Amino acid sequence: MKIGIIGAGKIGGTLGPLWHRAGHEVFFGSRHPEELTALVAGLGARASAGTPVEAAQAGEILLLAVPLVAVPALASSISAHTSNKVVLDACNPYPDRDGDAAAVALRHPAGSAGWVASHFPKARVVKAFNTVYFKVLQAEAHRGGNDGVGIPLAGDDPDAIAAAVQLTRDAGFTPVIVGGLEKGKLFEPGTAVYASGMKGSEVSAALGVEAATGMREGKTT
Ligand SMILES: NC(=O)c1ccc[n+]([C@@H]2O[C@H](COP(=O)([O-])OP(=O)(O)OC[C@H]3O[C@@H](n4cnc5c(N)ncnc54)[C@H](OP(=O)(O)O)[C@@H]3O)[C@@H](O)[C@H]2O)c1
Repeated sequence: MKIGIIGAGKIGGTLGPLWHRAGHEVFFGSRHPEELTALVAGLGARASAGTPVEAAQAGEILLLAVPLVAVPALASSISAHTSNKVVLDACNPYPDRDGDAAAVALRHPAGSAGWVASHFPKARVVKAFNTVYFKVLQAEAHRGGNDGVGIPLAGDDPDAIAAAVQLTRDAGFTPVIVGGLEKGKLFEPGTAVYASGMKGSEVSAALGVEAATGMREGKTT
């Protein structure tokens, strides 16, 4: 799969190599793609970099990993290239960093992911990879077998959730399907699972969803 990674910082620069290692093609989007030369060269074939617009065009599925405050301006330049695409939203609302955008996003009826999704009306947004510190992702990928570090997922489109489940597994973690996009509010900053490093079974228990294999809502898969 071709994955467009918008924001090649700590999260994008961690997940991109994990997906590349799993055999995916990764295209990093940055306002300064020339600064990604070492990252791309270190990965080799199937890795490239360009502008955020080029990454959005290149990716069949996109990861959004930028400061939340950047979303509106970014969306105005890339949303034309997101139609029907799965967009994994890793962004978190932090008032200190994101200012009023964080407060506005948190007031959205479907939480910050709902606010992000409102900027990409033709995309299929899944809240994903927002809860785990990047150094934990780096250290814990592919550890823990079927019960590795848990990644809660929330989204309204079943096929998009399925894609997120697969990419979570490919990166080396345990997906936990929490429910529709508004359920992302259950794993915003400040919630029990946020930045906890919990295993998939622990995330499931903390969110009150049953830990089991399968693709149904509320299951660890
Ligand atoms: N750090 C973590 O452990 C962690 C964990 C889970 C979720 N998150 C969330 O993931 C998102 C990214 O966090 P991060 O820690 O990876 O941040 P980061 O290291 O600062 O990287 C963010 C990237 O976004 C790009 N960016 C910044 N402003 C932009 C703008 N106005 N337009 C377009 N691109 C812009 C920057 O790339 P260029 O300057 O090259 O364009 C930068 O490399 C945040 O919302 C954060 O809350 C972070």
